Amino acid sequence: MQATDWLHEIVPTLLAEPLRRAQRVRTTDDSMTSQQLTCVCLATVAAVVCGSRASAAPTAEERRTLEQDPAKILGSDTCMKCHGNAFEVWKGTPHYATFRTLHRDPRAKEIAHNMGLRSIKRGGICTDCHYTSQVAQAGQHRAIEGISCESCHGAAKDWIAVHRDYGGLQVRQETETAEHKRWRREQSIAAGMNNPTNLYLIARNCYDCHTVPNEKLVNIGGHQAGSLDFELVAWSQGAVRHNFLRTHGQANAVSETERLRVMYVVGVLTDIEYALRATATATQRGKFAVVNANRVANMRQKLIEIQALVKDDLLLEAIEASYATGLKLDNKAALLEAAERVGAAAYRFAESRDGTKLEAIDAFLPGPEAYRYGRNRKD
Ligand code: HEC
Ligand code: HEC
Ligand code: HEC
Ligand code: HEC
Repeated sequence: MQATDWLHEIVPTLLAEPLRRAQRVRTTDDSMTSQQLTCVCLATVAAVVCGSRASAAPTAEERRTLEQDPAKILGSDTCMKCHGNAFEVWKGTPHYATFRTLHRDPRAKEIAHNMGLRSIKRGGICTDCHYTSQVAQAGQHRAIEGISCESCHGAAKDWIAVHRDYGGLQVRQETETAEHKRWRREQSIAAGMNNPTNLYLIARNCYDCHTVPNEKLVNIGGHQAGSLDFELVAWSQGAVRHNFLRTHGQANAVSETERLRVMYVVGVLTDIEYALRATATATQRGKFAVVNANRVANMRQKLIEIQALVKDDLLLEAIEASYATGLKLDNKAALLEAAERVGAAAYRFAESRDGTKLEAIDAFLPGPEAYRYGRNRKD
């Protein structure tokens, strides 16, 4: 056995067989052979990877989500002015609370000590995921709050102006044309907003933090290797949920079923993407590598189950990408390329699927009893 083959061993999935099974599942054209299908799908992937980036998936650089530029952070007070309800909900979440609680937590002190950090709040790596940083007067970065609006929706300096322009000073939100609204959302995304119109843009942030893609932090620091049971529907529709727009502020509504279906699938795809990214950076046979490689293996299995029910070209593309290379050490370039392809499929899936054809997966959707309310849930 070669030194780098060990991950195949701990990952019980046979590489070829599930893929072949997925390819046998016909998608749009029943007369196509699986061979032809593969070609069509690979061609589509190539189109995304090679051409027309502007309207297609965001590039790898655009996907670097953990590092929100502190020079472009405005702070949640800016959002509060128009989104008071969402702001109040946020104040009840672990994302908000971590700003007050983390540095006092004995486990946090222990992890920081293992990492050789003198301060949890200043500099160092804890700030990437537990806080929002802004550039202070003297030019250095300062943690101003916990995981905030901009941690998920993107640092706002470049998109806030277009976000609040309904088509001129005379136009109010209620009188904005549908066309302008569409234009405004496109512009806001182009300017860096993670607009939930495309769920992938936000999901990638959740997974970037919740997979904890930092080998040293996990293997040496003793930090948990990600939220292993993270699932986008359950984790976004509980304590974190802040859906007030559709009821004009009257209620905090769970998203409609069609949207939850898309969210569920986008969550699985994004989980695979970020677990692949983490596996790509693993350098040693430790907890970090094992947990992430297993995460890929489990989630792509899940994706095959989904594909068997919904038969969707984009999912087949993602399945093929996720099986394209070995889950092993010293395989960074190929694993990152696979992650890139899965991410591209996730973006396009979120962009183009409205959930009406995904009824077959309803049995997979977690019900309200599974929605996450954090460790301190009362009821
Ligand atoms: C001047 C008021 C105003 C400010 C400030 C503001 N928003 Fe909004 N935002 C709105 C309005 C109005 C809508 C609903 C637009 C619609 O119905 O299409 C909205 C919608 C949204 C949406 C839903 C997607 C969309 O584009 O419709 C998100 C997400 C959002 N805002 C996030 C934020 C965040 C984060 C901040 C702070 C950085 C912020 N907003 C600041 C007025 C504002
Ligand atoms: C890459 C993102 C990331 C970084 C960097 C990070 N954390 Fe975390 N941390 C998380 C996430 C996500 C959770 C929540 C896990 C859950 O509840 O499923 C968490 C939870 C925790 C917890 C509570 C769970 C426990 O193990 O008791 C502590 C304590 C903690 N982090 C400390 C730290 C410290 C200290 C640092 C800096 C040395 C740090 N974290 C850096 C993402 C991160
Ligand atoms: C943990 C990540 C996260 C944080 C923090 C966060 N959001 Fe969101 N936001 C989301 C997600 C995910 C959605 C889409 C949810 C859905 O469709 O069910 C969303 C949707 C929205 C929407 C549109 C939903 C609607 O119908 O009303 C607005 C407006 C919004 N966010 C504003 C904010 C503001 C303001 C803050 C800070 C007070 C904030 N968000 C903090 C993840 C986040
Ligand atoms: C910037 C990093 C970051 C992002 C982005 C992020 N989270 Fe978190 N999340 C954390 C950390 C850190 C904790 C743990 C906080 C603590 O307990 O101190 C956490 C905790 C949670 C919890 C509570 C966990 C529990 O015990 O039940 C939920 C639910 C959650 N996140 C959902 C989400 C969802 C959904 C998204 C995306 C829409 C998201 N998070 C995006 C870092 C992040």
